Amino acid sequence: MMLLTPGASRRRSSFAAGPPLGKKRPLGGKQAGASLRSVGAFFAARLAPLMLAAFCGAGSAQTLEFEQSSVKPGGIPFPFLELDVPYVKTADGVVERMLDLAGVNEEDYLIDLGSGDGRIPIAAVRDRKARYGFGVEIVPDLVDKARESAREAGVGDRVRFEVQDLFETDISSATVLTMYLLPDVNMKLRPRILSELAPGTRVVSHAFDMGEWESDESDHRDGASLYLWIVPANIEGEWNVDIDGEPHRLSLRQTFQRLQGTLERNGRELLVEAGAMRGTDVHFLVRDGAEATQYIGRVAGDSIIGLSMDSKHRQWRASRDAGKVVSTGAEGG
Ligand SMILES: C[S@@+](CC[C@H](N)C(=O)[O-])C[C@H]1O[C@@H](n2cnc3c(N)ncnc32)[C@H](O)[C@@H]1O
Repeated sequence: MMLLTPGASRRRSSFAAGPPLGKKRPLGGKQAGASLRSVGAFFAARLAPLMLAAFCGAGSAQTLEFEQSSVKPGGIPFPFLELDVPYVKTADGVVERMLDLAGVNEEDYLIDLGSGDGRIPIAAVRDRKARYGFGVEIVPDLVDKARESAREAGVGDRVRFEVQDLFETDISSATVLTMYLLPDVNMKLRPRILSELAPGTRVVSHAFDMGEWESDESDHRDGASLYLWIVPANIEGEWNVDIDGEPHRLSLRQTFQRLQGTLERNGRELLVEAGAMRGTDVHFLVRDGAEATQYIGRVAGDSIIGLSMDSKHRQWRASRDAGKVVSTGAEGG
């Protein structure tokens, strides 16, 4: 089976031989010294996919087949394109599990970043009846192949593929985002995922995590690690809380989906425990002596509608102090 490993770095999949042919986007060192690259370095770049293919075993034909392409996106001959991630397919069984993890359904707009032959958006629409699938891919041959496969699968009207740099793709409409990239690429995308995707959007990554942003769920299928994150609403700040008509102050700090803070009650500061977000759903526990109260609510911008509060069915709701909305600390990557 062919797998991506953290060692399959960008450089391995880089075929660039000179700066004028490189992509417009500054590539963080990938281009450095490219104009002076020796013949040896050029061959190293050419040999890299072969080595990767040899390392990965079965399925390597795809890597080589597309390496030979002469298609020119934006006038750049494909052999000179710099890939941030080499082309390796997700096995069909793993695609299924990714869609299961994300709970893809007919309301979803799925975007696959680095869509390869298009199998993930096509499966989402064909098998899960997703509303729409969109794949962005830098290699034109792969985009052509994906479009053809979509037509063959009878979903050409609800799946779109574009030759595009995934770092420049507008991801804000996605309700599900899928990725089979590399660790540094995931990390580079993380701040955008947190700030541009609506709370509740599901993000599934094949093989690689997103550092200290712990996944909400994970799984293994056919030797592949899979991770699911639910984009959390930003709930950090100072809140006025109404509990059965009595005013309280809630002060929250947020790191990704985890919450810490205090609830001021009768002049005492009580610790917020086990605080967590799942999309727009919030829950935390507050202990006052022997009494432990579970708060469950739903966030809508600067309001929280309390859904339940312990077995006594007390009511609670909260509103955030105007102008006190602060960063969760996570967006900065
Ligand atoms: C590991 S493959 C995953 C393919 C597909 N998503 C799958 O799971 O079968 C990564 C894909 O990202 C594409 N890619 C690499 N750099 C890219 C970039 N900057 N923008 C868009 N696609 C890119 C590669 O050409 C490759 O097809």
